[in-house]
Amino acid sequence: MRLHVVDHPLVAHKLTTLRDKRTDSPTFRRLADELVTLLAYEATRDVRTERVDIETPVTPTTGVKLSYPRPLVVPILRAGLGMLDGMVRLLPTAEVGFLGMIRNEETLEASTYATRMPEDLSGRQVYVLDPMLATGGTLVAAIQELIRRGADDVTAVVLLAAPEGVAVMERELAGTPVTVVTASVDERLNEHGYIVPGLGDAGDRMYGTA
Ligand code: URA
Repeated sequence: MRLHVVDHPLVAHKLTTLRDKRTDSPTFRRLADELVTLLAYEATRDVRTERVDIETPVTPTTGVKLSYPRPLVVPILRAGLGMLDGMVRLLPTAEVGFLGMIRNEETLEASTYATRMPEDLSGRQVYVLDPMLATGGTLVAAIQELIRRGADDVTAVVLLAAPEGVAVMERELAGTPVTVVTASVDERLNEHGYIVPGLGDAGDRMYGTA
């Protein structure tokens, strides 16, 4: 597994406002959307392209376009949905699948309650979206399912990660073609499974349900 922490002043600025507990839901949603687009720029650095011949108004030339099969973007419901627009803004031709997963707040175990994506992902590049890599349980289960379906290149885009979650991903997904792109690896997880300093419950802050 590869880990890429995006070090950029605009990323740090937006993340700081997301962390601030005074930031209201509309602002949180807008900033999360903008931050995802900045992370998406890095996350798509290896997106596959093919050569195309075109003509400018001046001369014939060659360029590139995204190649087939199209990349698949998979937000993990609920909070990953708030990252979808920011991602497909840069990948408008991507196909979108959905994974509904929920974390049991006592055992911190992830279970799947909805799946909507192609059964065969052979040869596909997949971008999975989940704002918080906390214990790693949800993302590991999601990525194992994508790889079981044949995905051969998976990039997880997360706003924030905990070192404990990164270690679980490294252990459980060793040897798999997985990259994690994040704005920060924070200090630690607390006893309730929240990232510290973190930003609280990403879903609640996005959807105003706190
Ligand atoms: N999920 C969240 O929304 N926040 C955390 O800090 C951990 C998991």
